Amino acid sequence: MTDLHTHILPGVDDGARDVQMSISMLRMEREQGVSTVVLSPHFYSDRENVDQFLQRRSVAFQALQSALGQLPAQERETLPRLVLGAEVAWRSDLVECEQLTELCIGTTNNLLLELPFTPWSNRLFDQLYDLMGCAGVTPVIAHLDRYLRLQRPRYIQEVLELGVPVQISAEILLHPFVRGKALKMLRCNQAHLLVSDCHDTGDRAPNLHKGMEIVRRKLGEQRAQELILCADELANE
Ligand SMILES: [Fe+2]
Repeated sequence: MTDLHTHILPGVDDGARDVQMSISMLRMEREQGVSTVVLSPHFYSDRENVDQFLQRRSVAFQALQSALGQLPAQERETLPRLVLGAEVAWRSDLVECEQLTELCIGTTNNLLLELPFTPWSNRLFDQLYDLMGCAGVTPVIAHLDRYLRLQRPRYIQEVLELGVPVQISAEILLHPFVRGKALKMLRCNQAHLLVSDCHDTGDRAPNLHKGMEIVRRKLGEQRAQELILCADELANE
């Protein structure tokens, strides 16, 4: 199983604050049956350029690798495989960024994209189509569940009709009173991925197993396997 969206990399964003927390989170992922973790720290193009981000990410990744190297080999081998990525915050000028492929997941062209929390507009979708057409990347829409109450239903529908992979966070499935719409999107194949979007070992800890158990219970084993396969493929293309 792949967790395609995590903030496990230490000290780069509002996720793991140090390597000890990163390792604890990787252990939690392992206990949940996760064998591949995508490290996807936030990237904000209005705060730094791609080179600066990649440099910071590289330093943090080396620190994590070095700390993992101190663990007994027996344990190290049981921890999930790590794949580098980024959670790229939407900016209207993103299409002009020539280095977008360097922010994609591993060696794929799949770009984890965080849409804005401000009201969406037709213009946003025009720009999104430009990005899909020109930049040579496939957007993977992060945590659509977080926009359901924020954005107009017709825009949510427009995202579902983009024909790109859509993520739901496991967190939303853990709340019986709010999970209905997210479950419906997963059932109807309008959403294709379940991720943890974990940030720490507390309130936002890795929880993919719990979310997947809800999928199994509500939508069946076959749908759970489809979601698992989709995440595996998007990390490995
Ligand atoms: Fe995230």
